[in-house]
Amino acid sequence: MYLENLSINHFKNYNSVQLSFSKEINCFVGKNGSGKTNLLDAIYYLSITKSAFTPQDNQCVQHDQNIFSIKGQFHLNDKKRLVLCGLQLGKKKLVKLDDKPYRKASEHIGKFPVVLIAPNDTDIIRGASDDRRKFFDAIISQIDQDYLLNLINYNHVLKQRNSLLRQFAEKDYFDKDLLDQYDQQLIDLGKKVYTVRKKFIKSFQPLVVNHYENLSEASEVISLEYESHFDLDIGKLFTESRKKDLILKRSTVGVHKDEFHFSMSGRLIRKFGSQGQQKSYLIALKLAHFDYILEKKEVKPILLLDDIFDKLDDFRITKLMEMVASDAFGQIFVTDARPERTLNIFEEINHDVKVYEVENGELKEMTTH
Ligand SMILES: Nc1ncnc2c1ncn2[C@@H]1O[C@H](COP(=O)(O)OP(=O)(O)O)[C@@H](O)[C@H]1O
Ligand SMILES: [Mg+2]
Repeated sequence: MYLENLSINHFKNYNSVQLSFSKEINCFVGKNGSGKTNLLDAIYYLSITKSAFTPQDNQCVQHDQNIFSIKGQFHLNDKKRLVLCGLQLGKKKLVKLDDKPYRKASEHIGKFPVVLIAPNDTDIIRGASDDRRKFFDAIISQIDQDYLLNLINYNHVLKQRNSLLRQFAEKDYFDKDLLDQYDQQLIDLGKKVYTVRKKFIKSFQPLVVNHYENLSEASEVISLEYESHFDLDIGKLFTESRKKDLILKRSTVGVHKDEFHFSMSGRLIRKFGSQGQQKSYLIALKLAHFDYILEKKEVKPILLLDDIFDKLDDFRITKLMEMVASDAFGQIFVTDARPERTLNIFEEINHDVKVYEVENGELKEMTTH
């Protein structure tokens, strides 16, 4: 699969641009703040129907405008597919495939997979458990529509249960039967989410281990473990936590408390790993994501590498470039503030490279030799 061309209007710092791409390697080079990351984000948006960096859709609309659109032509299984995402302020987001609108944007997710490696991704390692759940949920959702729907429903019921707990506290009364109903719904939906997460981690862990070994010179043993309340007697946990939940006015048991432990020789990387080890673990997770999509969907996801050369040392850059040269990846988009570095790196491999120079939301194709 690859993205053949892209047309953006009023998205972030872009007014109106049309670009065509190489099937292999594409680079966006230019000064900081020129709009390189925004381009990767536009591509990400076409795949995931939201920005990787901006939590609210309306912040993606160019300042002083009220509408943005991103249009891209993909090639998938020898067919051209046109994806359009657009938003007019105050209206519902529009996502279309070959001119047909989806009823729900979530139906689109997973059709044109991408894997993004970006600087703030270290949150997955160092941040709260919520960051890790989000990371894995996004991966599973790209493969499994039912999982995504169950998760959305679970979060919906969770919100209702929490608001019920608040009402009970305010009115100083408590309806046991009603709470029982919510608990049962959370247990039923939670069990579905849990089962998928558990099975997923089992098949994902060896992929991570494999990439970590390849990326790090030392022979460290790493692991990835999943921990959930659903490992235990969940009905009992709900009953036991009820009093506490009523006092705290929030739900303390369920899959929204699940944790994923990243460790090395039995110690948490988040707490004890060096920066280099954390970085290797992160890249291993991302490349495992790539493998996982390839295995499940039999397509190579588009790889988006944001400022990656800044963040990696020479050893890991070399390892990554060996993979690029070996055709392990499909289409790649790379950003770099230092054009000469990127050009040197790609000059050594025999691939079709297209380079765009970005300046204040304007683009110019650079000729390469
Ligand atoms: N909604 C928006 N409208 C206009 N400009 C925006 C919007 N969102 C972000 N920007 C601008 O985009 C620029 C950052 O672009 P970015 O792609 O992160 O740059 P780079 O990756 O090249 O450093 C900033 O100048 C920022 O102000
Ligand atoms: Mg950037």
